[in-house]
Amino acid sequence: MLKDVYPLYLNNEAQQPNTDLEVTDKFTGKVAFRCAQADAKTIDAGIQGAVEAAEPMRKLAAYERQAVLQHCVSRFKERFDELAYALCVEAGKPIKDSEGEVTRLIDTFRIAAEESVRMTGEVQPLDISPRAKGYQGIWKRVPIGPCSFISPFNFPLNLAAHKIAPAIAVGCPFVMKPASRTPLGALIMGEVLAETDLPKGAFSILPAHREGADLFTEDDRLKLLSFTGSPGVGWDLKAKAGKKKVVLELGGNAAVIVDRDANLADALERVIFGAFYQSGQSCIGVQRILIHADVYDEFRDMLVAKTKTLVAGDPHDRATFIGPMISEGEAKRLDGWIREAVAKGATLLCGGKRDGAMLEATLLEGVDRNTKLNIEEAFGPVAFLIRFDDFNNALDIVNDSKFGLQAGVFTRDLFKMFDAWDTLDVGGIVINDVPSYRVDNMPYGGVKDSGLGREGIRFAMEDMTEIRNLVIRRT
Ligand code: SIN
Repeated sequence: MLKDVYPLYLNNEAQQPNTDLEVTDKFTGKVAFRCAQADAKTIDAGIQGAVEAAEPMRKLAAYERQAVLQHCVSRFKERFDELAYALCVEAGKPIKDSEGEVTRLIDTFRIAAEESVRMTGEVQPLDISPRAKGYQGIWKRVPIGPCSFISPFNFPLNLAAHKIAPAIAVGCPFVMKPASRTPLGALIMGEVLAETDLPKGAFSILPAHREGADLFTEDDRLKLLSFTGSPGVGWDLKAKAGKKKVVLELGGNAAVIVDRDANLADALERVIFGAFYQSGQSCIGVQRILIHADVYDEFRDMLVAKTKTLVAGDPHDRATFIGPMISEGEAKRLDGWIREAVAKGATLLCGGKRDGAMLEATLLEGVDRNTKLNIEEAFGPVAFLIRFDDFNNALDIVNDSKFGLQAGVFTRDLFKMFDAWDTLDVGGIVINDVPSYRVDNMPYGGVKDSGLGREGIRFAMEDMTEIRNLVIRRT
């Protein structure tokens, strides 16, 4: 179902200068396909194309931008199975999760199509004091100009879509570097965009080696850098980004609180999903599970029993819930973190074995504060339990992290819900569900080391535009 070779997209056109990038099937480890890789000269040409496309893109009418996005929605629906299969191969994402991601991709473009005709401004009376009598203001949003996008491996379609779709919605040309391990999702989006009559230079999708890709970050012709990926890389890129606006959607060690009044049977299903779906490779995957002492033992036993039933194996198999991690190296890294935690006194409740890139769904308790597993982002199928007696203390534990992306709280107490909302230093709080829950139109992003800015179409559209004010004096 996949081709042997895929082109890159330079200034809206497919090009096959080479087949240098080898992409493996993440379950078998075999080469699945090859695709073109951009060198610095090609990236430079893409950026120049985007500069030249800025004016024609700005001049597109809202209905024209909307039509492009609607075309994408239709074509993604038609190519649903192919997109899901591609994800399953290149990311090793279980087929059900892959299908879920394609559904979200369609949502993301559909939301952008709706928002593209709703970009409004404001009339602002300025006569707030005698010196402004007779003055009136109006502001509108204008596209920021050529954008640079770097997208990650864990949601190769939807997290690329969260950059591409709002850029088209506002009329910004862009160059994108998809993750080298999973470039195909973005390349198929390029193929679909190439069917539209976007102005030449409106988009370039350029798989590239990280070493040769500095232009994506450093080139001053680009007005915005939007990066999704690991915190270490993200903050480093920001330091090199010069004058451009920077949006960072980075990682976390997300926590969920299960209070004593929670519906445990319901919480169980959601916590298992949040901790282990797509092998925990989500920035909002549950890593820390805080459980009230009154229900700790019962909920721990439920979690362990359920985790042991999760089916691991071939992501193409519909029964599979746990597929491979993105690479054996990543699985080894996390395996090492489990061992470190156990060496520092943690109890392994279940899982903990690794075979190549397959790491078992793993639960621990008694994890020391000063372990990588507590401090850093696990980004794999590992979570640990923490007992608490007092809800406010649980909120403090959630905040005791350098990250702040999303948090989940299972409670039926309205006041505790508001306490969590007021107190938790994160970008979003999810009540009676896991932090891993996201709908694609909601504001999404983090504080502290988890990032800067928000995605979620409308919010990304704000970042991709500047406010341009008009002051009128009545004479
Ligand atoms: C992420 O890993 O940051 C994205 C999670 C999601 O979109 O569900």
